[in-house]
Amino acid sequence: MKNIKDQENLSQKIVLLRLDLNVPLKNGFITDETRIDKIVPILNFLIKKKSKIIIISHVGRPRGEFNKIFSLKPICENLEKKLKKKIQLLDDNIFKLTKKDLFKSPKNQIVFLENIRFYKEEEKNDVFFAKHLASLADLYVNDAFSCSHRLHASISKITEFLPSYAGLQLETEINALKKVTTEIKKPITCIIGGSKILTKISIIKNLIPKFDNIIIVGAMANSIINYKGYNIGKSIKELNCETAVKEIFKTSKNHPCEITFPEDVLVGKNINDLSKVKKLNDIENNDIILDIGPTTVQKIKEIIKISKTVLWNGPAGYFENPNFAGGSYEIAKAIVKKNKEKSIYSVIGGGDTIALINQLNVIQDFNFVSTAGGAFLEYLEGKELPGIKALNQNV
Ligand code: 3PG
Repeated sequence: MKNIKDQENLSQKIVLLRLDLNVPLKNGFITDETRIDKIVPILNFLIKKKSKIIIISHVGRPRGEFNKIFSLKPICENLEKKLKKKIQLLDDNIFKLTKKDLFKSPKNQIVFLENIRFYKEEEKNDVFFAKHLASLADLYVNDAFSCSHRLHASISKITEFLPSYAGLQLETEINALKKVTTEIKKPITCIIGGSKILTKISIIKNLIPKFDNIIIVGAMANSIINYKGYNIGKSIKELNCETAVKEIFKTSKNHPCEITFPEDVLVGKNINDLSKVKKLNDIENNDIILDIGPTTVQKIKEIIKISKTVLWNGPAGYFENPNFAGGSYEIAKAIVKKNKEKSIYSVIGGGDTIALINQLNVIQDFNFVSTAGGAFLEYLEGKELPGIKALNQNV
């Protein structure tokens, strides 16, 4: 794949730059800026080269419809401050934009398109949408490794219509993950949590042959607890996960990989509630599982103690409420302790996991921090991600 840093003549060229600015937002405020900080280098690089830049990103899952909650406005403003540069947020209908309308003033170097997922064509990898996006620019750069597992128009189809390049952050992430997967020290443990159940549950089965331990926590674990016959009350759950869960336990029988899931949990009646420890048998119909319990925490700490490599993606609970942050904090502290002793190689991935680590101010105590969540796991699975495949084909 070609990298944009090797390109000479970028002056006055219009670059369509796909970024992942899917940062956590609370009432319109950004609660963790790491993903924005990571893409400042590519923007500074292109600014220095005197390129004209069209930024494309998504935030959240607006499902193909305009929704003010998912506006990129706060992110655009944050980026303006970081770059000390005016950025024009274009909320016009993308289909009405033409190349000649975009950079009318010579002072104008960066424009930001509103949330690309306001268009249903994006997630359909629509050819006409991609072609239209391409008509706005001279070349395309993917610096969104964390979205590269999505077969979407601004990630995949777009590369059929423009000379396409990898960005700086995308290359850094791939090189780091390549190193991790080839130079692994065993025993190796993977901790998977978070709430994107459908994205991750079917991946676990393919990770089993590569790991000594797989620990399933967070809302991911609800599907397992439910499958094992326990009531999960009003907890987050996805329908149609039984087959994927069944496959996990079936596959694990043929490999020396231990699957760990919660033995006890913390529940509340709503997400703002106080926490109560419960054994799986005691979960009531109006309970919501919001964290792992103390017995489970202890078990996970024992596994971390004997691990030489740990990959962690997705929090163990609803850490936004401090009453349910304990499980994730304990996991983080156990890894950090081993990291300081230099007895573990630790990698974390995903927007929420990074936000959690930043709350504890221990980001520097992990060996590698990937911005990617789902993409990180699919990469570990050994899959060629659609966004990477598209760049590899565009040579
Ligand atoms: C992520 O946060 O992992 C990426 O932004 C992709 O988001 P998605 O899971 O909504 O596609």
